[in-house]
Amino acid sequence: MGSNFIRYILKKHPDWQVVNLDKLTYAGNLENLKEVSRNKNYQFVKGDIAEAEDVAKVIGEGVDKIINYAAETHVDRSIMAPDAFIKTDIFGTYTLLEAAKKYNVAQYIQISTDEVFGSIKKGFFDESSPFRPNSPYSASKAGADLLCRAYFKTYNLPIIVTHACNVFGLNQYPEKLIPLFITNLLEGKKVPVYGEGQQTREWIFTEDHCRAIAMIMEKGQSGEVYNIGTGFEKTNLETTKFILREMGSGEEMIEYVKDRPAHDERYAINSQKLRGLGWQPSVSWEEGLRRTISWYKENRNWWQPLKSGAYLEYYKKQYGK
Ligand SMILES: NC(=O)c1ccc[n+]([C@@H]2O[C@H](COP(=O)([O-])OP(=O)(O)OC[C@H]3O[C@@H](n4cnc5c(N)ncnc54)[C@H](O)[C@@H]3O)[C@@H](O)[C@H]2O)c1
Repeated sequence: MGSNFIRYILKKHPDWQVVNLDKLTYAGNLENLKEVSRNKNYQFVKGDIAEAEDVAKVIGEGVDKIINYAAETHVDRSIMAPDAFIKTDIFGTYTLLEAAKKYNVAQYIQISTDEVFGSIKKGFFDESSPFRPNSPYSASKAGADLLCRAYFKTYNLPIIVTHACNVFGLNQYPEKLIPLFITNLLEGKKVPVYGEGQQTREWIFTEDHCRAIAMIMEKGQSGEVYNIGTGFEKTNLETTKFILREMGSGEEMIEYVKDRPAHDERYAINSQKLRGLGWQPSVSWEEGLRRTISWYKENRNWWQPLKSGAYLEYYKKQYGK
């Protein structure tokens, strides 16, 4: 999502200077930002948000806005190994907040998720709903969001927290449901659906998420929280069947697998507050999915090395590191 946002914001504000601090974990990929790598207003710095020195190198150079996209994000990985989530998502956010305080940053935006609210059977979470996270990922994000709140209250830092629904689109690492299923089908493999696929998710196309963040940067108020949702609610099975149909595959390609522990049944958020700033989604769920499918069809070179586990080899070849 961060790379989509950098491309978007450099187009929208060609005179802004953007510094991208990224640790380049398995999910980070400089290839995503190849088209801006020669832009004189873009700079990449390899570093860890949980290392104060790395952060100071960037923020101490006169950065006036921090948009924190960096995180460990995959729920299944958080179930297997939560430590990196606690370190990056909580401690990394703390390190950025400390730097925001030390260097008097003019705006800090925390990119977070609706998963911090937990699961809701009926109705919608709003910005003041209590946090009831159910996975180590969402608990780490919730911890970070609470630190943001505390830094606003205690130090009056200009912080805004955003909770987005499930994001999908181009350049998404092929472990999340939509890119995993599309790329599996392109490889002739089945798609693993958890349980009976009845979990409901609200979806937003990355470009709309970028537009929401740009709107919040412009019109959002410090100390406020904004939900970013579309109302495009689908069960995982509906999403799966749409992808299968669009890709000309039959339902025999579905493999129902054991459900994820503590799997949230339904996420749904009320985003009237953001709509009050003048934002609304511009890409429908169907159009977003069609654009995503086309992108993965046309960019096999991007995702194939990631799926074959040969990413590190590929990365060494590309960047000689
Ligand atoms: N994907 C979604 O559906 C979704 C929905 C709502 C909110 N979010 C939030 O949006 C943000 C971005 O999500 P994404 O899906 O693009 O994640 P991702 O896993 O695809 O990418 C995460 C990026 O953060 C970098 N990173 C990880 N640890 C780091 C560290 N310690 N220091 C510096 N960089 C580090 C990685 O190298 C990678 O470039 C996250 O904060 C996530 O919680 C995601």
